[in-house]
Amino acid sequence: MENKIKALIFDLDGVIVDTTQFHFTSWVVLAKELGFDIPMSLDEDLKGLGRIESLQKVLKHRAIDTPEAEWPKLAERKNDIYLSNISHLSVGDTLPGVIDFLADASSQGILLAIGSGSKNARPILEKLGITDMFNAICDGTDTTRSKPDPEVFDCACRELGVSPDEAIVFEDAISGIDAALSCGTLVVGIGDPDVLNKADMVLSSLENIKVGEIIHELMEFA
Ligand code: BG6
Ligand code: MG
Repeated sequence: MENKIKALIFDLDGVIVDTTQFHFTSWVVLAKELGFDIPMSLDEDLKGLGRIESLQKVLKHRAIDTPEAEWPKLAERKNDIYLSNISHLSVGDTLPGVIDFLADASSQGILLAIGSGSKNARPILEKLGITDMFNAICDGTDTTRSKPDPEVFDCACRELGVSPDEAIVFEDAISGIDAALSCGTLVVGIGDPDVLNKADMVLSSLENIKVGEIIHELMEFA
């Protein structure tokens, strides 16, 4: 039963690397430049959403309507702020436990993929020096629909040649957990169990945990 799992699919922001805070602070700066504030509580709602989908949520807090024709320019501005905020990223900046966890999975012949809504995923993986650890990468440049749509995880399963029920997704966002469940994979939440309560199991991080332990626990209840 346990060797039914052939692949692990990882969200990038907030699972592999601690970039979530930089996405949010970039939205805060953009809003300030436009003359309004966004509430801290928006952070959780924005996690996992595509760039334009996030912008739409941010602009709901603006007192005046923003014509759709201005959205691409504003999204590009947010991305410029974001890129300058993450310019320090380099090898070694993966979240605690990530490299050991990926190596543990690979050593057992388990396939690895990225399933991220970010259009910056590939350059970030390059900066971190971990592109080659993955058998497939699906990101915001390969997809047109933002999480919670399952498109990015469908893409990862297809690229790896596995069916969704042979894969486990690792996600820090509610929208990502919904996307994985719609795709039909098992899903491990990384973060707060009260927030990520739809996941099949929730971990605080990938530190000090073996792939086999996760598969064993998930399969026990499958
Ligand atoms: C997701 C992040 O991974 O990527 C979101 O959780 C972000 O916050 C989305 O909006 C799109 O990212 P990017 O880098 O294409 O703007
Ligand atoms: Mg994420």
